[in-house]
Amino acid sequence: MSSNLSLLQPPARSDNLIDVGILAPPFARTATFGAAPAAPSPSLDLESEIIKLKRQRNAVILAHYYQESDIQDLADFVGDSLELSRRAAATEADIIVFAGVHFMAETAKILNPGKQVLLPDLDAGCSLADGCPADQFAKFLERYPGHTVISYINCSAAVKAMSDLICTSSNAARLVAQIPADQPIVFAPDRNLGRYVMKQTGRDMVLWPGTCIVHEQFSVKKIVQLRERHPNARLIAHPECEEPVLRMADFIGSTTALLKHVENSSEKEFIIATEPGILHAMQRVAPGKLLIPAPPDGNCACNECPHMRKNTLEKLYLCLRDRTPEITLDAEIARRALRPIERMLAMS
Ligand code: 13P
Ligand code: SF4
Repeated sequence: MSSNLSLLQPPARSDNLIDVGILAPPFARTATFGAAPAAPSPSLDLESEIIKLKRQRNAVILAHYYQESDIQDLADFVGDSLELSRRAAATEADIIVFAGVHFMAETAKILNPGKQVLLPDLDAGCSLADGCPADQFAKFLERYPGHTVISYINCSAAVKAMSDLICTSSNAARLVAQIPADQPIVFAPDRNLGRYVMKQTGRDMVLWPGTCIVHEQFSVKKIVQLRERHPNARLIAHPECEEPVLRMADFIGSTTALLKHVENSSEKEFIIATEPGILHAMQRVAPGKLLIPAPPDGNCACNECPHMRKNTLEKLYLCLRDRTPEITLDAEIARRALRPIERMLAMS
């Protein structure tokens, strides 16, 4: 079945899919549970204990740019989803501590089935992954036989196992462009990234109607007001943002692309439409530049990802000390999910 979507419109079937998919509760995450960990003494120097434990256990700490700055500062590597997957694939450490969200730690486990992968807070989920339950995605795919299934890395291992190719925000357009022009594509779970890729590549794709609860929050009205106060500021945005924000943006890219743009551009002022955790790395590479987080709709801190922010220094310490919570995966799902991830790493 081929899709007939106009470039900037969601699929006509998405209305009823939103009913069944996006509002569904998160499915159970795989993990090993133990008794609640004993809290560390308040006098403990968490930073130096984490460094000590990391050496003792031959562990590596991988952190996403959306983590709290104290966690980023302790990490062995800070990056976007693609770079973190590459690091996870290449590490020689015995233990991977993923300071990020569940799908990232799961990806690290798929790439390293023999290693222990720890996530400081197992409830650190993702609205995109949680809004695309595997059983509903399987039913969705039954309607599109013969389609190549490309899934954004922000999805569960079970959804990855049903996919032909995984992509991240930094390689999605490049990977889609490598699929033969006459081959129909299903793209999941982020409809905003999907539409952006359609625009970039001129390809029609069937989109699963998922969104990121953080990137859909940015207010066009407030950004316009901010630009009036800062007429020289450039708006830079992550492709998970809604289409009206992307239309206004001077530059669109993954977190790493945004970071490099701020570093290398001759411009001095930026409004940044992504999770503000990235400002920590931006301040480091461009100390003299004015960096303004794009405002969310309403008086909330909802441009901060509630999942990413579940990880704390204390939880990072506890998970290294107690070697839990650990990511565990069904072996068959992990085996099938590995193929499209490896394909991504080879193609990007
Ligand atoms: P990137 O790391 O690909 O920029 O994606 C951002 C994100 O939303 C991670 O959850
Ligand atoms: Fe998921 Fe959005 Fe949080 Fe990234 S920022 S982890 S896409 S909810």
